[in-house]
Amino acid sequence: VASPNGVLDLVNSSISLRVMRQRDLPFADTVRALAGWNQTLNDWRRFLAMEPDGCYVAEWNGQPAGTATIIAYGAAVAWIGMVLVHPDYRRRGVGTALLKRCIEHLRERGVRSIKLDATPAGKQVYDGLGFKDEWTLARWEGRSRRPQPAGREGSIRDWRESDALLVDRLDTAAFGVSRLRLLRALAPQSHPALVFQTARARVDGYGFVRKGARAWYLGPISATSTEVGLSLVETLVSRCEGQMIYWDIPDANRPAVEWARQSGFALQRPLIRMYLGENSAPSDAHKQFALAGPEVG
Ligand SMILES: CC(C)(COP(=O)(O)OP(=O)(O)OC[C@H]1O[C@@H](n2cnc3c(N)ncnc32)[C@H](O)[C@@H]1OP(=O)(O)O)[C@@H](O)C(=O)NCCC(=O)NCCS
Repeated sequence: VASPNGVLDLVNSSISLRVMRQRDLPFADTVRALAGWNQTLNDWRRFLAMEPDGCYVAEWNGQPAGTATIIAYGAAVAWIGMVLVHPDYRRRGVGTALLKRCIEHLRERGVRSIKLDATPAGKQVYDGLGFKDEWTLARWEGRSRRPQPAGREGSIRDWRESDALLVDRLDTAAFGVSRLRLLRALAPQSHPALVFQTARARVDGYGFVRKGARAWYLGPISATSTEVGLSLVETLVSRCEGQMIYWDIPDANRPAVEWARQSGFALQRPLIRMYLGENSAPSDAHKQFALAGPEVG
């Protein structure tokens, strides 16, 4: 390999990248399970359905070795997720090659800000690619044992298909850009999916729970106020009676963190939100009571 850095290129010459297809899902879900992550085949199918040409498999000498997915929220922001390298193929540049391919793909599409939520292991790779830290968050885990809350429950009702449009504005204020496409895809996979509706039929918040491989996943939850956000959290958690729940909370949302602590949730691991390019559409952590998932924002 002709290059000033011959050794590195010799190593890299063993890596090839290709677009992920349905037939790759058994491999993808195997690396997911090896990393102890919580996503399911339904999640993988959703990634492929939403970005059929934007999810990748890396091969090492022809053997599948790693995965990465993207999801674009218009031209302003896109997310990279599911960056997973099989333990047998780590520290050979596979993770870096996957990231570079995703970045190239998104830049070709004119995306201005590329974001991701990094594990401490992932951050080692992303720092080297120029990603900057935005804010910190954490994965919390706990078992639902709260009794059904009294009080505001009357304002909370089941999600209807038409709610995606009603919550788009408040979710955009919380997340930074519209996630309409994601919410429409996630809602049918979420049980329960709830909205908080005021007396004047205005929707001030929504929240979902979906089943994961290891635990139920609480999120996304966005709301216009702390009161609405926490009442959605309380109701959703109470509806998961007896189940183990994973919940990703921005550290800056102090009331949500405090609620988790007081309700017996334990800190599982820290994560860090990072961005590449400009950060013209930052999210408002005070309005986000739960992420949709570190792999999608
Ligand atoms: C994080 C992960 C994807 C890295 O994949 P990888 O193919 O091993 O990464 P690379 O070989 O491209 O590493 C690139 C650089 O990142 C750094 N790096 C990667 N893993 C590291 C580790 N465990 N400790 C310290 N530095 C590390 C090194 O600087 C490395 O370059 P070097 O090997 O020349 O020193 C892989 O470890 C993994 O799948 N982990 C479990 C899942 C996970 O946390 N994914 C990230 C989600 S945000």
